[in-house]
Amino acid sequence: MKFSVNTIEIGASDVVIVPVIQKNFEKSEGFENTIKYLFDTKKFKGEIGEIFNLSSLKDDKYENIIFVGLGKEKEITGEKIRVAFSKVIKKCREFKAQKIFINNFNVDGLAYAEAINAVIEGTGFAAYKFDKYKSDKKVEKDMELCIGNVPLEKLEEVKGYIDEASVLVEATLLARTLVNEPANIMTPKVLAKAASDAGKKYGFEVDVFDKAKIKELDMKAFLAVSLGSENPPRLIVMRYSGDKDNRQVLGLVGKGLTYDAGGYSIKTSDGMSTMKSDMGGGAAVIGAMSAIAKMKLKVNVVAVIAACENLISGGSYKPGDIIGSMGGKTIEVINTDAEGRLTLADAVYYTISKEKVTKVVDIATLTGAALSALGITTTAVVTNNKEFYGKLEEASYKSGEKVWMLPAFDEYKELIKSNIADLKNIGGKFAGTITAGLFIGEFVGDKPWLHLDIAGTAWRDSEKDYYSIGGTGAGVRTLYYLAKL
Ligand code: BES
Ligand code: ZN
Ligand code: ZN
Repeated sequence: MKFSVNTIEIGASDVVIVPVIQKNFEKSEGFENTIKYLFDTKKFKGEIGEIFNLSSLKDDKYENIIFVGLGKEKEITGEKIRVAFSKVIKKCREFKAQKIFINNFNVDGLAYAEAINAVIEGTGFAAYKFDKYKSDKKVEKDMELCIGNVPLEKLEEVKGYIDEASVLVEATLLARTLVNEPANIMTPKVLAKAASDAGKKYGFEVDVFDKAKIKELDMKAFLAVSLGSENPPRLIVMRYSGDKDNRQVLGLVGKGLTYDAGGYSIKTSDGMSTMKSDMGGGAAVIGAMSAIAKMKLKVNVVAVIAACENLISGGSYKPGDIIGSMGGKTIEVINTDAEGRLTLADAVYYTISKEKVTKVVDIATLTGAALSALGITTTAVVTNNKEFYGKLEEASYKSGEKVWMLPAFDEYKELIKSNIADLKNIGGKFAGTITAGLFIGEFVGDKPWLHLDIAGTAWRDSEKDYYSIGGTGAGVRTLYYLAKL
């Protein structure tokens, strides 16, 4: 999808999209009478995401005009625009439209930046399909989308918003594709290659450590998880220095299980079916780094992924094992399916102790309990720093990706203490998302830390609005804005 802007009202195109604000049709210049007629005859109410295609009036003159409702002006948000435009773009696809023109787009009360960003993201995301393994895929020509009616003096400013939003779309879709690649292809080695490729393309440095180097670093917990697989682990380290005079460095740590069968605490077939997505956190940090570097943000960021597979073999770790960790704490393994926190404990410890980050965010498809608690629309958060969480909320407001903080009371920390080691890797039946987060928190020392559990938000079983089936790219944009703040 290509995006451009223009000052003119209607340009040459296959389809003209007319955004309509409810009972405010005088703002849709050039179409006032038509819209009034549609409202009066109740053919179209302008509700959010509602679509009316003028060709259905059987008037050839209007064959290519699609009205899209944006709802009530006071209630418009970026997220609603994303959803509405994802619907329109699917309609355009039915028409096989290539050139699309968006008429008058002026929403009072919503910043230009936000509205433009939402249009680009809504359309960009909705146009995505993962079909590279289909033999009979239809080759569709790239769509061109032009935003019209932009005042001359705003043209440059709007171009800037389009550039940023396009980068965020590309970075998010990269994360989706990394997740959608099957685990027989997307091994730790291939994930590392993907990070290196992104580094070259967008401008950040990538170091990849093999098993020998991981051993040397003493990452015992990470190594224990990786033992069951013939595909050896990789530690992927990405560095971007956009503000060399500043000593602040943000650490991003993504869970990188390229497959999670559960190990000896094996999952059911059903539970395993989507577990190629268990590197969704890793994909998110690769996407975020790509956007941060491409936009040349004035910040320093180090992103780390401990990539491996959780499988069964004669060499696998087992329930009952006691393992060490890079940070020195000993861990009793109660359940080998609670592997993410083990890899993350070492990855987070490495990021703080070796990369000298001053704050750290980990992002992980960590617990089924996050799905039970918050469903598929909201990412669960555990933190040791409310102020840092406030920043995350701001970032989340910008991206439209919802987050919610869970409590981290000391009582929950009791649940992961072991009788025979320092920690145990599960906290029992209840509060699973909190205890999993707090386990990682045991390795962050006093650094401001946010833990994002995207088990619910990283994957979709069905297509909806701007989501495709499979990986969602959850976290990419929120992490980008968090770095930018
Ligand atoms: N990768 C899973 C969590 C998961 C579940 C992600 C569903 C996405 C969808 C994680 O490694 C896991 O297996 N967690 C266990 C923890 C339990 C053993 C304490 C879980 O949630 O069941
Ligand atoms: Zn697991
Ligand atoms: Zn897992």
